Amino acid sequence: MHPSVRIRPDIAKMEGYTFISGPYDVMSQKIGVPADQIIKLDTNENLYGMTPEALAALDDLREQGHIYPDVESRHLRALLADYLGVGAEHILVGAGADELIDLTLRLFLEPNDTILNCPPTFTMYTLVARWIGNCRVVDVPRFMDFSLNIDAIEQAAHATHAKLLFLCSPNNPDGGLLKAEELDRLLQLPLVVVLDEAYIEFSDSQSFASRIPDTPNLIILRTFSKWAGMAGLRIGYGIYPLDIITHLWKIKHPFNVNIAADLAAQATLNAFPQATLQKIIGERERMRHALAQIPYLTPLPSQGNFVLCRVHGLSTVALKAALDARGILIRNYPNKPGLADCVRISIGKPEHTHALIHALVEIGEGH
Ligand SMILES: Cc1ncc(COP(=O)(O)O)c(C=O)c1O
Repeated sequence: MHPSVRIRPDIAKMEGYTFISGPYDVMSQKIGVPADQIIKLDTNENLYGMTPEALAALDDLREQGHIYPDVESRHLRALLADYLGVGAEHILVGAGADELIDLTLRLFLEPNDTILNCPPTFTMYTLVARWIGNCRVVDVPRFMDFSLNIDAIEQAAHATHAKLLFLCSPNNPDGGLLKAEELDRLLQLPLVVVLDEAYIEFSDSQSFASRIPDTPNLIILRTFSKWAGMAGLRIGYGIYPLDIITHLWKIKHPFNVNIAADLAAQATLNAFPQATLQKIIGERERMRHALAQIPYLTPLPSQGNFVLCRVHGLSTVALKAALDARGILIRNYPNKPGLADCVRISIGKPEHTHALIHALVEIGEGH
């Protein structure tokens, strides 16, 4: 490289991350199945799509698209405050929960700081930490049943003086919930707990958001990508104690939330798609029972819009390839510790479950 070009050495050496999925046309190229025949159950999207109200709201763009969005997302934050029962002053909106992960890490991390991560879980926490650089990620693996090893987290927190602990509930990829007594114990630690509730709308458990005003070391991240069917518009939010959010405002890109996402999110909250959510939750239970009938799969109970299955007597690579060939996309993890024998299947519509189960039976017969 030219001596004037001094890329950060850690990034120069870093392996690029390969995102496994993409929109229908990209996946069509990849698996050789026409885009309109693909059943996309690999990235926990909401296959019912955006609400009719959100779609209608996008019409307003014709009048507003040439004006910068509100730096403070005032209308949306007021609606979110009602939805969550937490004051708008605690809420910061961003381009997906991913941006809030990034902002939160950038607010806290100095060179040589440590964060705690509890894999298997969502990868963005450690990925973004690595991008920021000069920090240490200490993994405290979950048990085989994906529950947290609270004793080990406590030990690691004290041993490393970690600044942040990332948790996810329902956890991606297994769909298990964080218990209130676990959170209570972890909040006693000398660190900030960042709790990702991207899938909480699909669960029968309450969000911990209402605790924020009285809990100085808890942050909660949420998104419109999953329940609201808005993954493509990129909008999420964080709920923060006042002592933290004050400083986040200083480092947020002013126009991080595009106006289309902002308007669509407002419209979604104004006409909450409860019926669609109930359909997805019902379908999750129906799909899990159907998956349990497949001899080579053991599905786990889940509180998200996905089900994780252990696969027996067949590699997940072979299973994914066989489903790809039939146009059905699921997620496998051949290189991830603790997940090599697992596949994660997102919840679609009843006809998607039907096609999936049919394909799984066929694959089993041919095996
Ligand atoms: C646990 C979890 N958090 C956050 C995200 C990202 O959300 P967003 O699309 O709002 O960036 C995902 C997406 O897969 C996720 O699984």
